[in-house]
This record gives sequence, C-alpha cells and structure tokens, in this order.
Amino acid sequence: MGLPTEIFSVKAILAALAFAAVSTSTLVVPAPLTPATITVCSGTISPPNGCLTISVVSDSCVNLTGGLSFLNKEISFAQVPNGFVCTFYQDFGCLNGGVNGHDVAILTGGTTNLANARGIASNQNFNDQTSSITCSPI
Ligand SMILES: *[C@@H]1O[C@H](CO)[C@@H](O)[C@H](O)[C@H]1NC(C)=O
Repeated sequence: MGLPTEIFSVKAILAALAFAAVSTSTLVVPAPLTPATITVCSGTISPPNGCLTISVVSDSCVNLTGGLSFLNKEISFAQVPNGFVCTFYQDFGCLNGGVNGHDVAILTGGTTNLANARGIASNQNFNDQTSSITCSPI
C-alpha cells in the first residue's frame, strides 16, 4: 500500500526538479547584445568625406579617444540605423551636464547634419561638439 504513494512522490519530485531546471535555464539566458554600426563624418556624408563606421554596443559609451581621437570635436554628419537612438555628448564619458540641455544631441534613425541636431530643449548647432557617443535600440 505504501509503494504506489512513494513512486508517485518520486515522480512528483523529479517533475518539480525538471520544472525548476527549465525555469532556471530560461532565467539565466542573457539578453543578446544588440550590435549596430553608425557612420560619423568629419566632413560631409554625401559625398562621404572623412567618414568612419563605428561599431556600438548597446548602452556602452564610446569615447572619441585613442584611435578615434581624430573625430573628437570634429563630427559634422552622422547616420544612425533605424530602430536605434544615439546620444552625442560634448564631454567624454557620455556625461550629461544637464544644466541647459545643450550638451547633448539626440539622433534617431537616418542621417543628421549636426549643425541642426535635436537637443533636449530644442534643435541646436552641435557641429564639431561631440566627444562621446552612446546608442540603444528603441
Ligand atoms: C570615457 O572617458 C571618461 C572620461 O575620461 C572615462 O571616465 C570613461 O571610463 C571612458 N569610458 C570608456 C568606455 O572608455
């Protein structure tokens, strides 16, 4: 009389463990990083003049230092893929002073002439202002 109950219990425990394993592995799978490339130009974008395509990893800051130093305070045009928003910052480290909102430009999909770029409060001249960039999927 005790045996069927025990078998049932073992089955129930195994089922619970299997469910827990599936649940855990589902939770552990990391969200894939969304890769993207943007094109930035020190001159015009059409025709391309001083352009470079940069890989951006979602939400990580690209400083225009090291090999990208030649672009620091030089970007005039940029192209961002559809489905992404990029913030261009006047300072290194993707820091937003936030006092007047004029230290960032916000770029969505398409080509932007930074001389007339969307800011936080209004459009502004962000030509030759950028020192760091961060992008995210939207
Ligand atoms: C970018 O530059 C800032 C300021 O120099 C620094 O704090 C930050 O760690 C740098 N970020 C990267 C990703 O190199």
